[in-house]
Amino acid sequence: MAEFKEAPAGAGALVQTTTWLENRFPTAFDAYKVHMSEYYAPKNFNFWYFFGALALLVLVIQIVTGIFLVMHYKPDAGMAFASVEYIMRDVPWGWLVRYMHSTGASAFFVVVYLHMFRGLIYGSYKKPRELVWIFGCAIFLALMAEAFMGYLLPWGQMSYWGAQVIINLFAAIPFVGPDLSLLIRGDYVVGDATLNRFFSFHVIAVPLVLLGLVVAHLLSLHDVGSNNPDGIEIKAKKDPKTGIPLDGIPFHPYYSVHDVMGVSVFLMIFTAVIFFSPEMGGYSLEFNNFIPADPLKTPAHIAPVWYFTPYYSMLRAVTDDMVNVFVGLTAVAGVLAFLKGGLKGLWKFAPLVGALVLAVMLKSFDAKFWGVVVMGGAVMILFGLPWFDQSPVKSIRYRPSWNKILYGVFVVVFFVLGYLGIQPPTTVGTLMSQAGTLFYFGFFLLMPWWSRLGEFKPVPDRVTFHAH
Ligand code: HEM
Repeated sequence: MAEFKEAPAGAGALVQTTTWLENRFPTAFDAYKVHMSEYYAPKNFNFWYFFGALALLVLVIQIVTGIFLVMHYKPDAGMAFASVEYIMRDVPWGWLVRYMHSTGASAFFVVVYLHMFRGLIYGSYKKPRELVWIFGCAIFLALMAEAFMGYLLPWGQMSYWGAQVIINLFAAIPFVGPDLSLLIRGDYVVGDATLNRFFSFHVIAVPLVLLGLVVAHLLSLHDVGSNNPDGIEIKAKKDPKTGIPLDGIPFHPYYSVHDVMGVSVFLMIFTAVIFFSPEMGGYSLEFNNFIPADPLKTPAHIAPVWYFTPYYSMLRAVTDDMVNVFVGLTAVAGVLAFLKGGLKGLWKFAPLVGALVLAVMLKSFDAKFWGVVVMGGAVMILFGLPWFDQSPVKSIRYRPSWNKILYGVFVVVFFVLGYLGIQPPTTVGTLMSQAGTLFYFGFFLLMPWWSRLGEFKPVPDRVTFHAH
């Protein structure tokens, strides 16, 4: 045990209490130092660095409002819809708590998408932050599961039919699919058993996983240190006497105060939405969800909430024609790898055999199954980003200028896919989502090639910082 410290003679009550606590709980004081007052973050953070703190804030909002919702919500197919109406109309401030939670779900995705995009443009996933990124991707998966299961709870038409459509997709998986979807549903149709298990996962299991992952995300970040808009490792240049990075400033008070500004702007927008447009024109609360779930009446058009629609678009893009395109691309990739792969002996034929096996598999299973694979793959592919990117620099600032256009097109494609996923399918829409899906996957799968091309700008020794 460490030596007990003495409060200085004549110290006030605050210092005495702090010393008393520090003697009994030094771990907490050490943690405060390591993660706040002596965590040296690069001094050139810009507005993109608000979103991690904002994601933490939204996580807290969701947990606190969730706890109050659970006090009045009934996870019972016969009572769920009415209990939500009761919260909205009769529970004092219930409408505010519910709108904070439903708007919070959308806000979570806005903030997390921007947070991920920051990682993408500044190469924050590259060595030594691969694990920070992987924990982030796992958080994203957990967040999607959390949002999907939460959406069933109000037991409206969209909750019911959205869950029906998505759970049925699992049935397309060869061999295990039908049993798997039965296991998820707990019944042959979405019903009380589904609602109960989704409730249990939504209020306890997934939040616990999320919290654990967020802790792992932050601890692993603090072990390696934050990246910054220049993509320069500040730990490479330390003060020889103190060992503190020359371009680092203590997180507290500098960034704790900086984040207060981001939090203030965020809360202004968040409250404006809650008070003036809580349904966001049907985007954050779909109008069909104000109708109680009716297993006998399928809505004319079923669309997921906006944050899932880019992936939903990719799912719908995979038609039989699209599978043929995949077969063609597999053949081209196989032949190219055969000709240029540099493999020796019999191994030379491995790419051709691999491509043939994949092509046979593509044609053997239903397009619906490949749609599910593409939808899941669109998220899973993010885990590979640290290894796809072969660029010698991290930040977009020092990459070839055309990279900015490429990243811009990526954003536009993602938005277009999102928009198409909300709309009922049309011939032109399907063609556009097919093109968008190919671009999305091409962006990542061809990254090992294109990320090395072009002229890189010289990366400065120290971060660029202009006081403001
Ligand atoms: C609940 C969700 C999340 C929370 C609460 C969270 C929290 C944070 C916080 C507080 C930071 C440090 C401040 C900052 O750099 O903005 C951070 C950094 C980071 N996060 Fe997250 N995060 C979340 C989700 C994600 C996701 C989904 C990804 C990527 C798939 C991700 C990737 C990263 C990366 C790469 C960094 C380091 C950035 C850098 O140093 O430039 N995070 N996160």
